[in-house]
Amino acid sequence: MNPLEQYIQQHCTPEDEILHALYRETHLKMMHPRMLSGVVQGAFLQWIAATLEAKKILEIGTFTGYSAICLARGMAKDGQLITIEKNEELENIAQRYFAKAGLQNRIQQHIGDAAALIPTLDADFDLVFLDADKKQYPLYLEQIVPKIKKGGVLIADNVLWNGKVVEPLKPNDKDTIGVLKFNQMVQNHPGLENVLLPLRDGLMMVRKK
Ligand SMILES: C[S@@+](CC[C@H](N)C(=O)[O-])C[C@H]1O[C@@H](n2cnc3c(N)ncnc32)[C@H](O)[C@@H]1O
Repeated sequence: MNPLEQYIQQHCTPEDEILHALYRETHLKMMHPRMLSGVVQGAFLQWIAATLEAKKILEIGTFTGYSAICLARGMAKDGQLITIEKNEELENIAQRYFAKAGLQNRIQQHIGDAAALIPTLDADFDLVFLDADKKQYPLYLEQIVPKIKKGGVLIADNVLWNGKVVEPLKPNDKDTIGVLKFNQMVQNHPGLENVLLPLRDGLMMVRKK
């Protein structure tokens, strides 16, 4: 971490022991631990969920559960969070930390392919955090927008895709193609207002008008 990143992290609400233990266990046991949101983005997600007083949150891409815990901690007292993860091997670690955080009754974890599961969910989400398969971002956008309530917010992670969105495109790079198409669809959508925040790998903040 460079000094500026360190300074930014030192001026965000810090991780508690539970999130720190999850961060450590993820780094010890997982192949791609950097996928986890971390202190700054986690604090941001909790902050936005609290500011919106979100009651119904959807997350696409649970991984080990870090961002789900942050979002759930921010949501309203009677709020519920649904999180979708295709890798069933991650269910155990996420469930364990949801329980440690006392959130086991407020987070529902669905295991399966997000594109198949999203259409089965009831509508009216206050907040959606999109953080799964980049190739499918355009499809997720089409599926999710009708399920967000008016004034609700979608946050999509990794929309700068490590800078690849402005580099020469390799024709078989399906992830970058997915991210580029998603960003363009959001930009052109008449029913959405959006701000691309350069936080970490880029967060597309979308509000449904
Ligand atoms: C970047 S990680 C999520 C990180 C997590 N949101 C956090 O901040 O701690 C992306 C996750 O999406 C999952 N995923 C990828 N494709 C998926 C799909 N088609 N359906 C559901 N989950 C998927 C991956 O298995 C991975 O755990």
